[in-house]
Amino acid sequence: TQRVLTGITTTGTPHLGNYVGAIRPAIAASREPGVESFFFLADYHALIKCDDPARIARSRLEIAATWLAAGLDTDRVTFYAQSDIPEITELNWLLTCVTAKGQMNRAHAYKASVDANTAKGEDPDAGVTMGLYCYPVLMAADILMFNAHRVPVGRDQVQHIEMARDVALRFNHLYGGGKELFVLPEAEIEESVATLPGLDGRKMSKSYDNTVPLFEGGPKALKDAIARIVTDSKLPGEPKDPEGAHLVTIYDAFATAEQRAAFRADLRGGLAWGEAKQRLVDLIEAHVGPMRARYADLVAHPDQIEAVLQAGADKARARATPFLRELRHAVGLRRMV
Ligand code: TYM
Repeated sequence: TQRVLTGITTTGTPHLGNYVGAIRPAIAASREPGVESFFFLADYHALIKCDDPARIARSRLEIAATWLAAGLDTDRVTFYAQSDIPEITELNWLLTCVTAKGQMNRAHAYKASVDANTAKGEDPDAGVTMGLYCYPVLMAADILMFNAHRVPVGRDQVQHIEMARDVALRFNHLYGGGKELFVLPEAEIEESVATLPGLDGRKMSKSYDNTVPLFEGGPKALKDAIARIVTDSKLPGEPKDPEGAHLVTIYDAFATAEQRAAFRADLRGGLAWGEAKQRLVDLIEAHVGPMRARYADLVAHPDQIEAVLQAGADKARARATPFLRELRHAVGLRRMV
């Protein structure tokens, strides 16, 4: 069997980038024969970026409801909250002890903070917590705990998965005694949507405030967000260049090959940007509308979602507990008699 695993940090409402980059390919992979899947709320990771408890709690609910509304089948998929699996934080420590500090210095998220501080002439580590610094180790623990082979993610997570491989290699080398304790995970990227652009053309991201919400706010929020997509200043009737227009890239993420060709032809023929935006709204709404109805129902029943997560945590721990025992034994933490 191939194991597929991915998670989403619970710091905001899911956006189109999360959906096309991770949720959609992950659910598709979970339906392949012979695949076993593990999808989770990365709620310990959320604490690194957010110290607003109400926001974390709300985001946990929204992200859980999103996975379920998007078609995750809880009979086939082990679906849980990271914070319900204490074995993950315990493994985090075992991995921390074999992770080179120099490697963490090179992690994108940490480096971005250092670069921004340096540019402002501040202490390079201003505002950097140990959580942020060690973020990739916790992510490695998420992946290695279940010995995942495939990790469907957007491009921004590739470096983290490479780091997880490195940590796994080192641990195997030190403690495997010739045996592969950890599988070496691989990022699974869908090239066409690996970095979905946001409203301003940069990567769609909570931290850039340029996202299009997947379900929250209903069709109106979708329409309002899409109205804010930046386009060039060509007038209605003037031919538009579809290549390089991020509105078109977002359209492509939801369109069939035929729809893509027709949209391009119409833009070259002078379709107004306003109409192009309406076509984008209609296309996305056709995809997400039916799911949104399920989402609304789920969000209104947090008790049911909690029950699903608890059942998922039980399934996950049934795997994690014996494996962690094996790992503790491998590093020498054994009963003496
Ligand atoms: P997060 O919460 O930032 O994003 C969740 C998933 O959405 C993808 N994504 C995108 N894909 C395409 N285009 C975009 N604009 C875009 N924005 C976000 C991300 O690549 C990601 O796949 N560290 C992770 C969460 C995590 C995790 C893990 C993932 C924790 N442990 C173990 C995989 C395996 C994160 O913060 O993703």
